[in-house]
This record gives sequence, C-alpha cells and structure tokens, in this order.
Amino acid sequence: MYKLVAFDAYGTLFDVYSMGELAERLFPGHGQAIALMWRDRQIDYTRLVTMSDPNPAGSKHYLSFWELTIRSLRYVCKRLGLPLSPENEQLLMDQYAKLTGFADSVEVLKTLKEKKLSTAILSNGSREMLSVVVQSSGLEPYLDKVVSVEDIHLFKTAPQAYQLLIDAFPVQKHEVLFVSSNAWDALAAKWFGFDVFWVNRLGHPFEEIGERPNFEGTALMQVLDAIQQGA
Ligand code: LAC
Repeated sequence: MYKLVAFDAYGTLFDVYSMGELAERLFPGHGQAIALMWRDRQIDYTRLVTMSDPNPAGSKHYLSFWELTIRSLRYVCKRLGLPLSPENEQLLMDQYAKLTGFADSVEVLKTLKEKKLSTAILSNGSREMLSVVVQSSGLEPYLDKVVSVEDIHLFKTAPQAYQLLIDAFPVQKHEVLFVSSNAWDALAAKWFGFDVFWVNRLGHPFEEIGERPNFEGTALMQVLDAIQQGA
C-alpha cells in the first residue's frame, strides 16, 4: 500500500504546452521547434552537469535549473538563427515561472489528501521557481512537501535525487508511487526502486531499455485508479 505519491513538476503537474504557443507568437513558424529543442537542451544540460562531476557532495558544475533553462533557451535561439532580445527572453521566462497546472491536477492532489496519503513534488527545479509556480497554480494547499534537487546539486536521474524523497518522508521505497510524464524520469525512478506511474498524454512509446512502469495512463486522474490497485 502506498504512503506517498510524488510527482515530477514540469510537464507532469505543470503544463509546458503554452511555452510553444508563446514562442510561436514571438517567432512565427518556429514555436514548436523552439519548445522541443529548448526542453531537450535543458535536460541535456542537467545531465552534463551531473555526469561530469557525480560527486555525492554535489557537482562543481551545478547551475540552478532556472539558469540552465535560460541558457538552453539562448542556445536554441542561436542554433536556429533567431535573435533573442532581452525583452523576449524575459517574456518567455516570465511565462515559464507562472505555468498553469493541468486541469485535473488540483482534483487529483485533493483526493490523495482526502485518502490520507502524503503528497510531494520531486523536481529538478530550483526552490525559488518551484515555490512561485506551486503558489500561482493553486496546488500549494495539497502538497505536503516540495522537494528540490537544489539541496544536493545533482539532477535527476542521479539516485541521490530520488533518495531525497526517502529522506524527506518516513517511507520505504516500495511505499512510494512516483508519477512522471517523462519516460526517462519514470524509468530512472523505477530503477531506483519506486513504483511508477507514467503519464503518457501524447501516446509515445516507452523507452527501449529498463523495466516498464507499473502503471501508464493518458491523464493524471488515472493515478487515482492506480492507488486503488496498489492498495
Ligand atoms: C522536473 C523536470 C524534469 O520537474 O520535469 O524535474
């Protein structure tokens, strides 16, 4: 039976789709490319930082996720030959700071709390950016803890990142259901020893390595069915 349901943040609870729309308005014809390449480069940078110095005391190359998000946006615009003015950079980052939650996120978290389960976010996001988005999206009242890798200066998928949940709550690995829309994150959490729910909104194939997630669905609401099964 699960005691803790922990969620990834960006793309899982918070809808990053609107970033492509804004990028399209600022750079007509390039919105989708910017959004996809931006996300990939952002995650690439987290991996570079972590793998190049996987020191348990933290990577000496660490930059906050906020900073890596800005740097990856700058890279992608240069790569696509699109001039990024300071004003447009500010507009895109302001929107990133205040992403909305997916429509079903409040109801899912509220129901989990009614069922007396602990709830958390475990994110690569820095404390400050998570605090802002959790408040602006209205999810704050339903989250027991917001756990950031900023505490260890190593990003997911370092096992130390998933370990933060075990250190933050009185739970064992098998009592955690970890929810992510990122297949790589779901896979690494499974490798770490959590049960995993993969939110596959776009009908993508799962990774070709590792174990399958325990659960898969197209919406956060289906996490509630998984809880019943896991109970
Ligand atoms: C996070 C990113 C990886 O919130 O979605 O950790």
